[in-house]
Amino acid sequence: MAKDKARVFHPGQQHQDILSEDLVAVLGYGNQGRAQALNLRDNGLKVIIGNKEDRYHERAREDGFQVFDIHDAVKQADDLLVLIPDEVLPEVFSRQIKAHLKPGNTLSFASGYTVAFDLIELPTTIDVILIAPRMIGVGVRERFLTKEGFYCFVGVHQDYSGKAEEKMLALTHAIGGLLKPAVELTFKQEAVLDLFNEQAFGPAFGRVLLTAISVLTENGIPPEAALVEMYMSEEMSYTYQKMAKIGLVKQTLFHSHTSQYGAMSRGIRFMDLDLQPRMQKIFNEIDSGNFAKEWQNPLSRLKFKAIRFFAMRQFINKLEAKVRKSLGFPEIPTEEFEPIDEKFDLLEHPKIQAELEAFKESLEY
Ligand code: NAI
Repeated sequence: MAKDKARVFHPGQQHQDILSEDLVAVLGYGNQGRAQALNLRDNGLKVIIGNKEDRYHERAREDGFQVFDIHDAVKQADDLLVLIPDEVLPEVFSRQIKAHLKPGNTLSFASGYTVAFDLIELPTTIDVILIAPRMIGVGVRERFLTKEGFYCFVGVHQDYSGKAEEKMLALTHAIGGLLKPAVELTFKQEAVLDLFNEQAFGPAFGRVLLTAISVLTENGIPPEAALVEMYMSEEMSYTYQKMAKIGLVKQTLFHSHTSQYGAMSRGIRFMDLDLQPRMQKIFNEIDSGNFAKEWQNPLSRLKFKAIRFFAMRQFINKLEAKVRKSLGFPEIPTEEFEPIDEKFDLLEHPKIQAELEAFKESLEY
């Protein structure tokens, strides 16, 4: 149950004036970087890009930006939006960003992770703020152009200048993040919330889907129909939209009376699933920093590859392939995916053998 009321910054006020003399560097031109840089430029700010030599660098040039090495961009800028993946950020920060920061700079993060779990060392003479859109990069751009907007979690971690909050609101406005309300969170709260959603809600929801599909197909419902009913029709995404707009329970009023009676009368049978203690344990692992520590361990990278190897061989992948073919879905171009490690010797690593036994069983390899 909700305990405290959050501070919410509402749309409507213009907050951008404090940035009129500033040069903004967007570090990283990926999902978030491109969308935010284009929005900042469209809102009239002076924007440069800091990026290593790769395809993102090219893309930024094609979009008409001046692109520099990361350290060169840092040297020139007043405000810096760090939009580089969390897992590489600690190294990039210590090698290419930290030494070039100047007193009074504003450093903005789109995720609380690296700061919350002490993976980077921040100078004390800068402002450090959080602007974390709750929207994928493409959505950040599209919803800026349509003026629909997107939610953001925002906060001030370090206020050196005395104006960090004003800057935070100005930059949030400038990326299009104040077309909808923005909710104040600490870096730690943002990181924990994000990880909890990924580690507790996502897998529990996935397990419910897989169980339902298993019961249906074992009882003679054709897999094509089961998968269409459960998620391939995309009907569920409409239900999610209704939940967001109308309410988790209230949206059921759009369903038939038979559906409402069935769902509510049977819903009570799922009350004892024991989810609360499991989710609490996951929350504690995240909150204590133990998850971040575990993920920093090089052995976890190995374990990750091995778990993913099994996950891609889970029964649902075969069932989906059959159903997709039967329903005439197009092949998914392989270049859309990161290549998956196929080497078995990875799984022979003695330290991870024991841990993997559980995964092998649960994923029905
Ligand atoms: P991305 O994976 O799209 O980032 C690619 C960019 O990172 C490219 O510019 C690339 O050159 C650069 N990069 C990658 N490895 C590098 C390295 N070793 N050294 C220097 N540069 C490197 O990242 P994305 O998804 O845009 O995430 C950026 C930040 O935004 C992260 O903190 C993420 O948590 C946060 N975020 C992401 C969201 C999303 O929709 N993907 C949503 C909200 C926040």
